[in-house]
Amino acid sequence: MPGDTVPAWAPKAALVGGTAALIVTLKYLSSKKTVEGGGVKKEVKAGGGKHESHEAGISVKASQVHQVAEYIADAGAKWDAKVKAEDVNKVGELSKYLAFQGEYKTSFAARPDVGEGVLVKVTDWKLLTPEDYDRTCFHVEFDIAGTSIEHLCNGAHGTALSVYSTNDAKKVQEFLQAMKLDPQAVVPVDEIAPQEEDGMTVLTTVEKLFTQYLDLFGKPTREFLKKLFPYAVDIQEKVAIAELTLERKMEDFQDRQARALTFADYFLEFPSLKIPVEKYAELVPTIKQRVYSICSSTDYRPGKCQLLVVREDWQAKGGDTKYGLCSSFLTFVRSGQWCVAHSTHSVMHMPEDKSVPVFMAGLGTGLAPFRAFVEQRRHEKSKGITVGPLTLFFGGRYSKAEYYYRDEFELYEREGLVKCCNAWSRDTSKKVYVQHKIMEEDEAIWRDLGREGSKGAFFLCGSKQPEKDVFAAIARDLPGQGRPVRGAGPREDGRAPGGGALRDGGLLS
Ligand SMILES: Cc1cc2nc3c(=O)[nH]c(=O)nc-3n(C[C@H](O)[C@H](O)[C@H](O)COP(=O)(O)OP(=O)(O)OC[C@H]3O[C@@H](n4cnc5c(N)ncnc54)[C@H](O)[C@@H]3O)c2cc1C
Ligand SMILES: NC(=O)c1ccc[n+]([C@@H]2O[C@H](COP(=O)([O-])OP(=O)(O)OC[C@H]3O[C@@H](n4cnc5c(N)ncnc54)[C@H](OP(=O)(O)O)[C@@H]3O)[C@@H](O)[C@H]2O)c1
Repeated sequence: MPGDTVPAWAPKAALVGGTAALIVTLKYLSSKKTVEGGGVKKEVKAGGGKHESHEAGISVKASQVHQVAEYIADAGAKWDAKVKAEDVNKVGELSKYLAFQGEYKTSFAARPDVGEGVLVKVTDWKLLTPEDYDRTCFHVEFDIAGTSIEHLCNGAHGTALSVYSTNDAKKVQEFLQAMKLDPQAVVPVDEIAPQEEDGMTVLTTVEKLFTQYLDLFGKPTREFLKKLFPYAVDIQEKVAIAELTLERKMEDFQDRQARALTFADYFLEFPSLKIPVEKYAELVPTIKQRVYSICSSTDYRPGKCQLLVVREDWQAKGGDTKYGLCSSFLTFVRSGQWCVAHSTHSVMHMPEDKSVPVFMAGLGTGLAPFRAFVEQRRHEKSKGITVGPLTLFFGGRYSKAEYYYRDEFELYEREGLVKCCNAWSRDTSKKVYVQHKIMEEDEAIWRDLGREGSKGAFFLCGSKQPEKDVFAAIARDLPGQGRPVRGAGPREDGRAPGGGALRDGGLLS
């Protein structure tokens, strides 16, 4: 095909099939009714589509279709329209479904295996910790206007965003090269993506399969090794893999886990493995969602969803520093990039009564939902609603490095919206934790939480570790109030001894 006479559908075909930057997969309806065109004959079966709907306005299905179209237009505009013949030829099989889209009912989807997932565009990314600091904590914003999750992402309602990351494209490329897998080869992913209609087939390229679907750099289990060993051709390798699944080799296997070996490492370690490309989807699980508390209020920032994220790192046995998948993905996304996400309910919800006092203890990124709480109250105040006092106990390591959203909180303090009681654990030789700051506020806590009939609420979010100490700090005897608070635990109804509500934010260890 001459380079400058490509048919109209060809650029899109090359875009979908041959460009790593694109994150859409192709779906088409296969046979029953014969269609003809350009030498392609295919049976097409008509099917009754099952479209999900969502209570909150726009249906998930409509939103998915709309966002994919936006994405293709966006990515297409940045893409060089002069398609080379070799690129078009590479997409081979895919191109016929694109050439005869009507007949094949061809459509595009991003992670069709994630029912609720919609493509959302990143609109802001800011580093919150200093460049030379040993932790990477950042702020990232998504444009959710007009999507099915537009009204489901209010952090003040305790909502979190489930993010589906992709694997590092360069690492995938190196893996495919080492395994001698053709990145442009087309593979069916019906195994992963359930069929929406009878006869519907989902295709993607090998490159996308390994970049967007399979958790190639995740942590393998022994079940994986049980499925892997039959693919080894060399008998010694077969035995070596099989042995790792035995109880007596448990220590060896655990050592491998401590060294953070990944699925990719195992595939590369045993050169005699002969795995048909479509079988990888049976061996490696798909990339699962990671949940992030939303740190913004959609009433305060319509159409936006913001996250406060710390990049996960750990020291593997042997000394290598390893990084978490999704927090790393979010570390490197920038405005203009897209990813698949949906909203997820959390347990934290601001009290319905806007006048009740709210205490919030956020440790590290556990600050996230409380920024949304403060934004929500600021929005309500701007509408003339009477809002109750807010007290924030933020626990971070160093005031210079980890005071996230400092300017905002200082402004809100000046406005009298919130009182910030920060606990910096590493500023001095003495550990200062949120529980110490909570004890300094005992009068207010007694008044709004402990006293009979008080209506205040206390929320805690962050790692699970401080839970007991924080509760003890709230529930300890309150000096000068003439009445000790009973017990060290919450009442059975989940309220503080005097009546105020104690909530914790789905704490993590
Ligand atoms: C309700 C909720 C809200 C949350 N909100 C926030 C938030 O607002 N901000 C925030 O930053 N985080 C938040 N998190 C945490 C977030 O969901 C992720 O857990 C976190 O970002 C780590 O994910 P990751 O993909 O980067 O790491 P993963 O890749 O999932 O790694 C996690 C851990 O798994 C182990 N691991 C991974 N791969 C291997 C391997 N190959 N071998 C051995 N071990 C391995 C390591 O111990 C590693 O530390 C929240 C979690 C929950 C449940
Ligand atoms: N459930 C949710 O909605 C949600 C939302 C956001 C984040 N999270 C989770 O919260 C965790 C936060 O991690 P992070 O790295 O951001 O926080 P971090 O920096 O590890 O901890 C924050 C602060 O807590 C201090 N701390 C440690 N032990 C304590 C204790 N026993 N009592 C009181 N304070 C203590 C730390 O001090 P030192 O280290 O100096 O001792 C540090 O100053 C992550 O696991 C994240 O997944 C959950």
